[in-house]
Amino acid sequence: METELKDKIVSIEKPAIEAPPEWKPMIMGILCNWCSYAGSDLTGTSRIQYPPDIRIIRVPCSSRVDPWFIIKSLQAHADGVLISGCHPGDCHYISGNYYARRRFLVTKKLLNFVGLHEDRVQFSWVSAAEGAKFAQVVAKVSEDIRKMGPLHLYKKENTR
Ligand code: FES
Repeated sequence: METELKDKIVSIEKPAIEAPPEWKPMIMGILCNWCSYAGSDLTGTSRIQYPPDIRIIRVPCSSRVDPWFIIKSLQAHADGVLISGCHPGDCHYISGNYYARRRFLVTKKLLNFVGLHEDRVQFSWVSAAEGAKFAQVVAKVSEDIRKMGPLHLYKKENTR
């Protein structure tokens, strides 16, 4: 009787319990064509590994990045945005990256104002020869976003 019961218990299949899907950040990378995009390309051709959390969009120059692009990216389920351009003095449109930097600082203030952590949006200078630096930048942004967790718009974040 007891062995019969044990056999029955053993024969019961465990219900398939699915583990909750692991959250992975989605980062929108907006890179200038001449430096940062070429740098990201070099990362790939040099086979340098970096977190696969970034989706890259190429723009002619970092000055092309309208703050609206950032807000729209965050609205469209990005957890963070990375904007990257040429180093100061290297912009192919002379001073585009300076305009981009100014716009970026204002955008950060706007994000703070609406209650989002300002580090959800980051800015970097990466040249075409800095494949390793591009990988480091992406790894850092990814780590920062992972610490902050998924972005919940319409919910005030701890901005400190
Ligand atoms: Fe790269 Fe202007 S062309 S920032």
